[in-house]
This record gives sequence, C-alpha cells and structure tokens, in this order.
Amino acid sequence: MAPAADADGFCLWRGPPAAKVAGVTDPICPPATDPAARDPASFVRAETRLRPVPLVPELSLHVADEAVPLWQRTEEELGAMGLPPPFWAFAWAGGQALARHVLDHPELVKGRRVLDFASGSGLVGLAAARAGAAHVSCADIDAYALAAIALNAQANGVAVDVRGTDLVGTDEGWDTVLAGDICYERDLAERVFAWLVTLSRRGALVLIGDPGRSYLPKAELEQLAEYSVPVTRDLEDMEIKRTCVWRPR
Ligand SMILES: C[S@@+](CC[C@H](N)C(=O)[O-])C[C@H]1O[C@@H](n2cnc3c(N)ncnc32)[C@H](O)[C@@H]1O
Repeated sequence: MAPAADADGFCLWRGPPAAKVAGVTDPICPPATDPAARDPASFVRAETRLRPVPLVPELSLHVADEAVPLWQRTEEELGAMGLPPPFWAFAWAGGQALARHVLDHPELVKGRRVLDFASGSGLVGLAAARAGAAHVSCADIDAYALAAIALNAQANGVAVDVRGTDLVGTDEGWDTVLAGDICYERDLAERVFAWLVTLSRRGALVLIGDPGRSYLPKAELEQLAEYSVPVTRDLEDMEIKRTCVWRPR
C-alpha cells in the first residue's frame, strides 16, 4: 500500500494491477464485508473537507489532507486489502490543468455531449458542466469516486450523469472526451489511449491533461497548453507541477 516513485521521480501510485482492472464493469471497490461500514457518500463526507481547487478556485471539491491514512481507513472500512488508492479525494495535476483549460475555452464543450473519463473527484466534468456543456457524463470504476462526484456536483450546483461502468472501447457519440491524469499505469494508459485515438479519428474532440507521467505517449500527442499547477507535496513530492493539455495527433 505504499506510494511507488516512478523512474522519473513521480510519486503517484501505480494503481491496481492490470489483471484487476481489465474488463471490469463494476466499481473496483468491493462491497464492504464489515457490517458497520458506512455508505460511500457518508464515508466521503466524513473523511474530506470541501475546499476550492488551487488552479480552479471557481470550483470546490471534497478533498482529503493526506492520502495514506485515508487509504488505510478505506481498507478498514470495507474490511478488504489491496484496494486502489483514494484517487477521488484529490485534484490531480492533469485534472486541474484540463479543468482550467475547459473553463478558459468554453467553446470546447459548450452545447456538446461530454465524457469525463476516469473522473475521480469529478473535477473535469464539473468544469465542463460549468462551461455550458449540453450533457456531461463522469465515469469512474471506484465506488467512492462515484459518491464523491455526486457530492461535488451538488456542492457546485451543476448536473452531471455519474457512470460506474468501464466505458473503454465503447462509443456513445460524445462530442468531447476529456481525460485527466490517466497515464500513471502502463496497461491502463495503453488501453485507454488506443480507445481515445479511435474516438478522435471518428471526429470527437479528445483532450488529455497530464504532467508527463511515465506512460504518456508524448510522441503521439500534440501539446495545446501548459499550466503551472499547485499540487500536494504528500502526493507529488513537489509543490508546483508543470502540466499540459494534449490531443492525439
Ligand atoms: C489519477 S486519478 C485522476 C482523477 C481525475 N481525472 C483528476 O485528474 O483529478 C485516475 C482515476 O482513474 C480511474 N480509473 C482507472 N481505471 C478506470 C477505468 N477503466 N474507467 C474509469 N475510470 C478508471 C481511477 O478510479 C481514478 O479515479
């Protein structure tokens, strides 16, 4: 359960092993075995505080102060080991940059059907909704993320559709597909990027927010914008992370 530093120094967790993720259609957090476990929304509320996002202060999220203690409490709560880290309790660098970009360029989402893939806290989808998207789906496979997205949407007064299935490989005709910080684990990055390229080739606008994680396929991407994103030292081992918005070439 310890954070793994990448070769290039990133301290982001690698996420669950691919075998646990591949083909998953339900949230990856298993049902609680502990009868005293709270429902995910109560757990999220109890373990977080509503705070403005550093690079996107017009939006607030239920976030945690520290990751590892929260990760431990999640495992205790569910009576399970080997769970994914609580990604949902933080605004990741890629998501912050992408949310900022969408709010500053509302024409990318305005009046469009938008998917925020690997939504985590829901930050990018909330930005799209705030910027005038016609419909926003926020998709994640972690049950706590789904609860966090719903609470965060409510707190910011925006409407999003919360999706708990693995949408990789599917196509619901989205006009814009947004993905913040998805390149932290090799198998996930490869699988998702191949799908995003397919969506881009059929005409969807695909935008990826990423600070240069280990598995970002830079050679296949065009950089659109760059941001200096305030991040949590606990997670990234630094306070500001240079982060870009990319699209498939
Ligand atoms: C590093 S977090 C990024 C969250 C958010 N986009 C941000 O930038 O703040 C990665 C997220 O991807 C989610 N995830 C991993 N595999 C997924 C899949 N197949 N479908 C949807 N979400 C997935 C995880 O549960 C986690 O919430």
